[in-house]
Amino acid sequence: MGVSVTFIPPLDLKGQYQSIQQDVSDAVLDVLSSGRYIKGPTVELFEHQFADYIGTRECIACNSGTDALLLALKALDIGPGDEVITTPFTFIATAEMISAAGATPVFVDIEADSFNLNPEAIAPAITSRTRAIIPVHLFGRPTNMTKIMAIADRHNLAVIEDCAQATGATWGDHRVGSIGHIGCFSFYPTKNLGACGDGGAVTTQDEAIAARIRKLGDHGRSGGYYHEEVGINSRLDSIQAVILSIKLQQLDQWNQQRDAAAARYQALMQAIPSIGLPQLMQQGSQVWNQYTIRLQQASQVAQDHSEAEDSTIGANLYRDRVRQHLQEQDIGSAVYYPLPLHLQPVYSALGYARGSLPHSEQAATEVLSLPMFPELTEAQQMQVTYALKDAI
Ligand SMILES: Cc1ncc(COP(=O)(O)O)c(C=O)c1O
Repeated sequence: MGVSVTFIPPLDLKGQYQSIQQDVSDAVLDVLSSGRYIKGPTVELFEHQFADYIGTRECIACNSGTDALLLALKALDIGPGDEVITTPFTFIATAEMISAAGATPVFVDIEADSFNLNPEAIAPAITSRTRAIIPVHLFGRPTNMTKIMAIADRHNLAVIEDCAQATGATWGDHRVGSIGHIGCFSFYPTKNLGACGDGGAVTTQDEAIAARIRKLGDHGRSGGYYHEEVGINSRLDSIQAVILSIKLQQLDQWNQQRDAAAARYQALMQAIPSIGLPQLMQQGSQVWNQYTIRLQQASQVAQDHSEAEDSTIGANLYRDRVRQHLQEQDIGSAVYYPLPLHLQPVYSALGYARGSLPHSEQAATEVLSLPMFPELTEAQQMQVTYALKDAI
């Protein structure tokens, strides 16, 4: 093949760090000598910068994307007896926090081409208990927010955007996280804007919701040691805040590099038979947290072996073999997500049968995420393409 044999990871955090190493070291040392390690001026500065970037009046930094979701739900008083509609094709945290708030997740199917919540499937799932919709902008691709907001308006529902995988993505003229009533972000290291540890943020245009979220994330404190309601401890460290401020300045550039890498993949891979490439949107609107293809033969092989596979929809032999081949060619890959949430053991009591949300189930069987990070080179992508062609 005549190509390098250096391992190509699914993502490469070290390369990104090297490009900002000096600035990060200086800023972290400043925080260490300041003696102010939690919240404080560096966190406030980052909150202002992030609100400006997303286009909201308010940003409340917190400990993780998971906490951001919980705080959003609690700030809207969503709890026992309430239902929240969301997608089953997402990371567990989205539904898990609905449950943690005491409410019930109601799963509706995704669109086959976008992997995102299908707006047409929402209305039939609305009941008198429905309080909110949580669309997830999966893999960095925005959900159709025009349709989601129209349904929410019609039924008087709140919209909490799960933007964990889509920091910087836009729908129309607006960044995700500024369109629904509340936006929830994760700064987990692998995200487009990743901290060097855990971190998250909530964005909103609503000052009253923001004030409630600040209080809930700080033990329900009204000031000093006076507490008005039961909250949690969810605060961003000052060290993470300065790192995020530095990285925020690079985010658009890094997202453009991801976009360019995605365009190169599309060109390189279009001739490979029986794979489905991600559908492109208007340039620059999706931010490619993942570049995820479909292995179309995987569902056929999974069906042929359905008895042997029993409850593990994601454990299909075809995809495992493709991944094994890539690994042998020094190429990392990942499967987000092998089993949709409605079929997870933790949600068995909700009673969803296999086959009930077919697009999500098919996606879980077919998806494969290939290496994607801003520094990914064309030579590396050619190596990925050769290996994939070979495997297929
Ligand atoms: C879609 C989605 N929602 C929520 C989260 C939770 O974020 P965190 O890991 O920061 O708690 C993640 C993180 O992986 C995610 O991908």
